[in-house]
Amino acid sequence: MSSNSPKNLIGIVVAAFAVPVISIYLLVKLVSSVSTGSPNTADLAMSNEAVTARIQPVGISKASIPVAPGARSGEQVFTAICTTCHATGAAGAPKVGDNGAWAPRITKGFQTLIEHATKGFNAMPARGGSPDLTDDEVARAIAYMANKSGGSFTEPKAAAGGADKVDPAKGKEIYGSVCVACHGTGAAGAPKFGDKAAWAPRIGKGLDALVASATKGLNAMPPKGGYSGSDAEFRSAIEYMVNSSK
Ligand code: HEC
Ligand code: HEC
Repeated sequence: MSSNSPKNLIGIVVAAFAVPVISIYLLVKLVSSVSTGSPNTADLAMSNEAVTARIQPVGISKASIPVAPGARSGEQVFTAICTTCHATGAAGAPKVGDNGAWAPRITKGFQTLIEHATKGFNAMPARGGSPDLTDDEVARAIAYMANKSGGSFTEPKAAAGGADKVDPAKGKEIYGSVCVACHGTGAAGAPKFGDKAAWAPRIGKGLDALVASATKGLNAMPPKGGYSGSDAEFRSAIEYMVNSSK
């Protein structure tokens, strides 16, 4: 049988089409199974835990593992959220790298910028439109952008570094001045301080999950319990309540 027989030629032509088509089909299947296929939250949670465990610095106790939401760097927040407007200058946003546009903003001071970016400022939406960003994450993103545009702000450290480690006594103090209003009595369905049964199912979620939900607010629990201090301090109040209720 010679290789240029018509039968063989048809075989070659079919193969020439079929091979790329099958490859593309397999590739699409692979990509879609990675991005959308079987969204298994248990697996996601597992991998989050696994990542947290791997990035955990040596010698840091389990209690001070960074909160997954809340520990993003300024660059990560910028890339995920702020870039939409601040990379291009859309809607009049000061563009990153444009020192002239940033100079009058930087002059307002870091605190004012943090306040404007968390509450919203004209066409600038509160937290860039991502309510799940913590105050520290917003501040880190501002420092990241401003520092690429002539500024020299200090990015608040992610809790992992231990640089903003909070004195455990601070947690007790915050509890006594803020959280006690509801958690002291169990008002509005708040898990009561020291009530092991009320706290057990919450503690079962893990400290990071508690910090995340309490930071955002949960039903009658206002965001951060109405506390206006840093995320690390707020976390220390939760640690204090949890440790006194298990
Ligand atoms: C939808 C577009 C948009 C997104 C997304 C956005 N910004 Fe802005 N931002 C603006 C605009 C527009 C302004 C200018 C507002 C003005 O001065 O009137 C601004 C201004 C600011 C300022 C200066 C405020 C001041 O007082 O001068 C800061 C700081 C800022 N943004 C931070 C952020 C951070 C941090 C993020 C991401 C978490 C973010 N922005 C995401 C549109 C956006
Ligand atoms: C205005 C009342 C109120 C104040 C003040 C308050 N809480 Fe709460 N908190 C609640 C209520 C109500 C719940 C239960 C929400 C639910 O599960 O529906 C709750 C739940 C929680 C939880 C459990 C979250 C979860 O995922 O199960 C934590 C942690 C917490 N609060 C921390 C704090 C801390 C820390 C403070 C002080 C900085 C504080 N709260 C102040 C009302 C309050």
